[in-house]
Amino acid sequence: MTKLGTGAFTGDQDNHPYHNDLKTAIDYDILESGFSILDHKNNISVITTGYRFVADRLVGYLDTKEGDEILDVGSGTGITTLELVLQNPNIKSVRGVDISKGMTHLSSYKFHKLDEKSEEIFKHVGNDKVEDYWKNFRKESLPYKDKVSFINADFLKYEENFKEKSFDGVIASQFMHWVDLSSAFKKMHQILKDGKNVVWNSASHFFNDATYPTEMYGMRYNDFIKYVMEEVSKEVTVKDYKTLSVPKHNIDTIKKISSENGFETKQVAVHLIPYDYKFVRKYHIPAFVKALTDPNINPEFLKEITDRAIAKTINNPNALDDTINAYDIDPIFVSTKQ
Ligand SMILES: C[S@@+](CC[C@H](N)C(=O)[O-])C[C@H]1O[C@@H](n2cnc3c(N)ncnc32)[C@H](O)[C@@H]1O
Repeated sequence: MTKLGTGAFTGDQDNHPYHNDLKTAIDYDILESGFSILDHKNNISVITTGYRFVADRLVGYLDTKEGDEILDVGSGTGITTLELVLQNPNIKSVRGVDISKGMTHLSSYKFHKLDEKSEEIFKHVGNDKVEDYWKNFRKESLPYKDKVSFINADFLKYEENFKEKSFDGVIASQFMHWVDLSSAFKKMHQILKDGKNVVWNSASHFFNDATYPTEMYGMRYNDFIKYVMEEVSKEVTVKDYKTLSVPKHNIDTIKKISSENGFETKQVAVHLIPYDYKFVRKYHIPAFVKALTDPNINPEFLKEITDRAIAKTINNPNALDDTINAYDIDPIFVSTKQ
């Protein structure tokens, strides 16, 4: 096995030694392993990672009982899955579903689901921080590995994978804004047992919270991306980016859509999560630029114009005027099947 240098994460994607999809998944955990939050839980201060912090809070809102079978939708790299089993050791099983092959592969690694040969790639990514993070994660997940399973599928086409009314609860951490809300509720209604809950969260680009309105507390990275796209649009054609900072929903629209699909929804909490612009620049912006420009554009050229646009944006005093409030909201909802 060739040892991959850190350059493997920044180099030419087409010649990358493993599938891009897996690279995205690994990048997700590199971000997670490099971002820490001081957490004052139960009067004890601990340092925790970003998505883990969010998952920890979210899972606390799911009521479970012995023998329950839980679905983790958009399970990603398994961060919420781990919180589910740690906080609810009596449940029978957690099934993770993710549309990305890479995410599913990585979550399977983190829960000891791969054979030795398939594990190899994760031991040579050339990033000590993430490798350490996986080592600790795998220590925590080991006692629960037989309760957990992952499938690589589109949740919205669940028919092939799930039976009707087969789950006692659904958790969806940072998932709902990836899909059409109405379609997601429709599927959740079919697979959940009667009276059971979907516990889910989102972010400021999706939800305008009355307590922490987006224009004051939202993740200003939405605006930052808007400024970057403005610069990019001077060089190539870009799809609509001007609405990036405008959240699509408030509590009334969410209640309405969920009710049309057989759920009653309550917002049970909102947290403020610190955000790090370094990561936005490194991970989020390239993804947005890629999604909003021509898919056939030369990747080298795309990287060049993205870097140029970021540099110009950083020099734009309007773009970074909210670095003090570098927070995103994490609103939490419980939707109960009627
Ligand atoms: C922001 S990640 C959240 C991951 C994880 N829940 C966590 O707490 O870290 C969102 C995930 O949803 C997945 N996803 C998006 N659309 C999906 C779909 N239609 N079906 C299943 N998974 C989907 C993505 O591949 C991604 O892994």
